[in-house]
Amino acid sequence: ILNTGHAGVLLVERRGSYPLIDLRILKTSAQQGEVESGTRRKVKRLLSFQRYCHASRLLRGLVPHTPGSLHLLDDDYLGQAAHMLSKVGTWNFDIFLFDRLTNGNSLVTLMCHLFNVYGLIHHFQLDMVKLHRFLGMVQEDYHSQNPYHNAVHAADVTQAMYCYLKEPKLAEQLSPLDVFLGLMAAAAHDVDHPGVNQPFLIKTRHHLASLYQNTSVLESHHWRSTVGMLRESGLLSHLPADISQDMEQQLGSLILATDISRQNEFLLTFREHLDNQDLDLQLASHRHFILQIALKCADVCNPCRVWELSRQWSERVCEEFYRQGDLERKFDLEISPLCNQQADSVPAIQIGFISYIVEPLFEEWHRFTEPSPLSQTMMGHLHKNKARWSRLRYAHTPSETETTSLYKLILQQSLNSNLVCL
Ligand SMILES: *[C@@H]1O[C@H](CO)[C@@H](O)[C@H](O)[C@H]1NC(C)=O
Ligand SMILES: [Zn+2]
Repeated sequence: ILNTGHAGVLLVERRGSYPLIDLRILKTSAQQGEVESGTRRKVKRLLSFQRYCHASRLLRGLVPHTPGSLHLLDDDYLGQAAHMLSKVGTWNFDIFLFDRLTNGNSLVTLMCHLFNVYGLIHHFQLDMVKLHRFLGMVQEDYHSQNPYHNAVHAADVTQAMYCYLKEPKLAEQLSPLDVFLGLMAAAAHDVDHPGVNQPFLIKTRHHLASLYQNTSVLESHHWRSTVGMLRESGLLSHLPADISQDMEQQLGSLILATDISRQNEFLLTFREHLDNQDLDLQLASHRHFILQIALKCADVCNPCRVWELSRQWSERVCEEFYRQGDLERKFDLEISPLCNQQADSVPAIQIGFISYIVEPLFEEWHRFTEPSPLSQTMMGHLHKNKARWSRLRYAHTPSETETTSLYKLILQQSLNSNLVCL
């Protein structure tokens, strides 16, 4: 249900805040089918949640494996997923495969596992039912029809965040609260993302743009949605009010740091700290700053992954841009930068993204880790991937390149699979 009145905005912050444009898409496609399959998806989620409960007990070794109690195929998948979790801290972790093996529950499964690894449930005396309810809401409020900003991206950022929290420079210094906030912020940092960017929301006069006065519109919405879900699930309701309020504020500060328009501000501060060698990780405020940087790194680390994973993310993010461009064309709006499929090729977009955003940030992160084996691995992938996109870019003329045709094929396939999965 679309909410247009300003009075109701805060109340429905968590749900029903999809932009107008999404409804238009729904109306142009077979609406009847959407409704039916929506119910089917909910039932499917419920079933996989039950399977997950069983799996999580299996993963923690609480119940002996009893053959025949579950469908053999499910056992087989969950066995493979459990095996993957034993390597969750490795940089070539394949989150796409993990998401398939967990039946689309990568974010919930990963978060529960990491909370167990760190003993966070015990430390914060969390209620398992509330935790599952909260994580289920977060995962569900990502839009699975977004090619990029969906729950798999959230799971990927969370996995990267875990790798960064384990960095020797950092691991010893972090408190359970730091780890809890870092993982929570990573999991929720793009929740309910509409699949279009802030300028689009501003020029279509979306209610979120006026609510947040054209500033960090999406990030504010991700944060406020997270707070809404925290309160609705009651996950922190057993903690003193000042503690849970502080947690909500810190989550906000972490999630708002992912606003890419504030990139330079963070980069310059980080560089200055490294130049002056004045970071003191005994100080909570300095650890918070490093968590902000770590989350920013995790959010844009796609080009630092092995090519096969990196390429898939690149195609997905460009597909999301092009869809925005198609909407802008359809509604006679100016086409945003990077969103014109005819003019902006995937390699060109990636080279720009790597050169202007990713490389400058990871060079400083590399320095911060002094440099760690993981940082060296990431820089290696980054340089190789950039060179590979350069070859792809200059090997062809810009418009009808091999990548464009490949991309069209992928677009076609994902459109088809969307019809099946919605
Ligand atoms: C947000 O941007 C729109 C379009 O440029 C403008 O009309 C509106 O006044 C702006 N709102 C605020 C609060 O700045
Ligand atoms: Zn993100």
